[in-house]
Parts: sequence; C-alpha cells; structure tokens
Amino acid sequence: MPIISLSVEKKLLERFDQKILEKGYSGRSEAMRELIRDYISEQDWSAGAGESVVVVNVIYDKDAPRDIVSEIQHEYESLIQTSIHSHLDEENCMEVFIAKGSGKKIKKLVERIKTLKGVKQVKYVATSSGI
Ligand code: NI
Repeated sequence: MPIISLSVEKKLLERFDQKILEKGYSGRSEAMRELIRDYISEQDWSAGAGESVVVVNVIYDKDAPRDIVSEIQHEYESLIQTSIHSHLDEENCMEVFIAKGSGKKIKKLVERIKTLKGVKQVKYVATSSGI
C-alpha cells in the first residue's frame, strides 16, 4: 500500500482527529481511505460514469393505482438485482431496490420512480464497484 503525506492546517487536523476519535476509527489512514472511497463513488455517480451499485428506498401509497413494484421491476429488470418489501403502516409500503449497472441508467430509474403516481419519497445511497 503506497504511503502518502499531505499538508493540513493545524486547526482542521485537530477537528478531524476529534471526529476520528468520536467515530472510533483506528487512525487517520483508515478514515482517509473511507473518505477517498466516498469521494470516488460520489464523483462516479454524479458523472453517471462507470458501474454503480445503488440502494433505492421507495415509500409509496399502499393503495397506489398501479403496481409500482412489478412495473419498475419489469421495466428495469436488467438493472435491479433484488428488492425487499415492507409494510410500513396502514397507508404506506416501502420497497428497497438494489440496482447495479451504468450510473446513467440507474439515474433514469430513480427519476422514473419519482414520477410514478402514489410514490411519496425516494432516497438512495450510491457506491461504485471496484473501490
Ligand atoms: Ni406493503
């Protein structure tokens, strides 16, 4: 593993060390590796570049006029690896999709879900493969 050095303002480094301590990292290197991975994933996802793995969380009306889940699964079967259904309460259902593939295509999938009638909230966590 290559070793790098970097210059950081003293005050900024003190705050960073405090956060590392609070979170329980074993040291600065571990924390920096995580930050670098997050940065790469975020940049890939923002650019729609490379292959992304995205967890998409959808909250929707239980009485939605169409079957949101099967509609999306059929339309995007090449991207959706798996899904989990949970009945949240008397009015709402939650579906968690795991999508893997081109960032550009998954962005389209997320936008498509947002436009479906009965969908109340869509949140996602993106990462890239190979980090
Ligand atoms: Ni349900």
